[in-house]
Order: sequence, then structure tokens, then C-alpha cells
Amino acid sequence: MSTASAPGKFILFGEHAVVYGKPAIAMAIDMRTEVGVERSSSFTLDRRPLGENRSYYIREIMRRWNGGPLDIEIYSRVPPSSGLGSSAALTVAMLGALRSLESVAEKERIAREAFDVEYTVQGGASPTDTSTSTLGGAVFISEKKEDNFRWSVEKKGKIWNIHSIDVPEMSFVVGITGARSSTKDMVEKVGRVVKRSPFGRDVIEEIGKLVEEGRRALKRGDFVRIGELMNENHELLSLLGASCKELDSLITPIKDKVYGAKLTGAGGGGSIIALTDEPERVARKIEQKGGRAHIVSVDRKGLALDDAE
Ligand code: PMV
Repeated sequence: MSTASAPGKFILFGEHAVVYGKPAIAMAIDMRTEVGVERSSSFTLDRRPLGENRSYYIREIMRRWNGGPLDIEIYSRVPPSSGLGSSAALTVAMLGALRSLESVAEKERIAREAFDVEYTVQGGASPTDTSTSTLGGAVFISEKKEDNFRWSVEKKGKIWNIHSIDVPEMSFVVGITGARSSTKDMVEKVGRVVKRSPFGRDVIEEIGKLVEEGRRALKRGDFVRIGELMNENHELLSLLGASCKELDSLITPIKDKVYGAKLTGAGGGGSIIALTDEPERVARKIEQKGGRAHIVSVDRKGLALDDAE
């Protein structure tokens, strides 16, 4: 049996603007997906025939696999369709387990392959989720190469440089609205605002500057400034049309109990994140307002491989 696990993530700063070449910061969180694979006489997933599985990600990974039949087991603690990187965690963990079965597991290679799988399934993606899930900790993505550079990813003339950055111990509360949204639709919606108005382009510029400042505040461990920047980032995302009433109805009631709060990921539904010293109180408030709350901290391990028999 070869097993691997990989974490989910949230975007702390810079979603949407990253699509226009601005930097972003993402963090791996301590919610993991575990995958175990074992050679077998037929393909099964969680003891059922693999053919019954409906995940496009698993189908795409198996399409690329030519190492013979397997029993696969998956256990995920990353809530699906919430902007918390569940598909990246699944893809990275599954590729990690498969590659360690072949004794060729290497993080950079797995991160690239996982990005390729996401790109194929979604018809487009940035390597943010897959790189963060593979590396763990906090990841800074930018067009420029900077300190603590790990690797770069290129696709159709676009280049993303992936860096690991140091961050202090922090606890966040994730609030899941339960409202579903499509990243593709949200990227298109924001794209229309950016294309049509110079104001939209100014907002993207502002977000880019804010991410740079956020990076410095993280380095200093300045929670007050990090929180202010989260609030500002949320306002700017709202101006681009990325927020919605479900997201704002979780953010408004916790404002006085947090350093800062914002939507995370594509928006239009999905989740919020809040930085706070009172995680239990904030989690309770979110649940009172109809959201699902999880207290999370930063995962430092990223992809973990365990190929013990
Ligand atoms: O919703 P998520 O976690 O997949 O994040 C989307 C982030 C965007 O910046 C909106 C799109 C992207 O590909 O970077």
C-alpha cells in the first residue's frame, strides 16, 4: 500500500488580480485529503468498481496511468466546492501515492503534473492551488522571480513563479456559505468589469500593491496590518463584483471580533476567511448566521508521502 496526503488551501490576498499577472499569497491549511493505492487484479475505488466514479479529476489521473490495476482509497477532510482547494488536494495526494508506488515521487514533478490535470479538467487554471497543496505553508505567486523561489510554471505564454514565504503561527476561521459558484463564471464576470472600465483596471492595480504590502506585514507578523489589508482586499473584490450577499452576511456580523475578514477564492459564494484571536467566538457567530465554520491553522508539511507496507 502506498499512501499520500495533501492539504487544502485558501487565498489570503490577491485572487482575481493574479489572473492579470499581479501577485497572490495562498496558504495551505490543516485539512487534508488522504489517498492510498495498492496493486490489484482490477480497478476499484473505495471498494467499488472504478468505472462508477464521477470525479473528473480521478478520471483524468487514471487516463494518464499505465501501471496496471489498483485498489484506491480516498478520505478527504477538505470540504468540496468551497474554494478551499479540495480538487487540488485530491489531485496532489493521488499523484503522490501513485508516484511513490513507482518510487519516483518528487514534489516539483507532482506539482507540475497536478497543475496539468487541473488545467485539463477545468479548461484553464493557475498553479496556485496545486503548488500550495504540494509545498505547504504560505506561497507567494508572482510574474517576477524573487527570494525563496521554488519553481516556475508556464502555460500558453503565461508564467507563474512560485515562492515559499515564512509566516507566523496564525489561526483563521473559515466560513463556508454553502452557496455554490463557478470559478470560471466569476473570472469571466470580473473580466467584463476589467475590460470595460479603467476603474476596474485601477482596482486590479490596487490589489497588486496590497499583496506586496501584505507580504511585508506577514514577514513582520503584524496581525493588525494583515487584518486591515484583508478588509481592504475584500472591499476591492466587492468593487469588481466578486462578493455576494451570502459572503457579506457572514463578514458583517464578525467585523468587531476579527483583525480582518474577506472572501477567499473566486467569490460569488464559496467561503470567507477571518483572522482572529477569538476563533471559537467567531466560529459560533458564523454558524448562527447560517454558515459552516472551521477553525484552521497553517499546514507546514504540504504533500506527505508514506510508502510503508
Ligand atoms: O476559487 P478558487 O480557490 O479556485 O480560486 C480562484 C482564484 C482566481 O484568482 C479567481 C482564479 C485563478 O485561477 O487564480
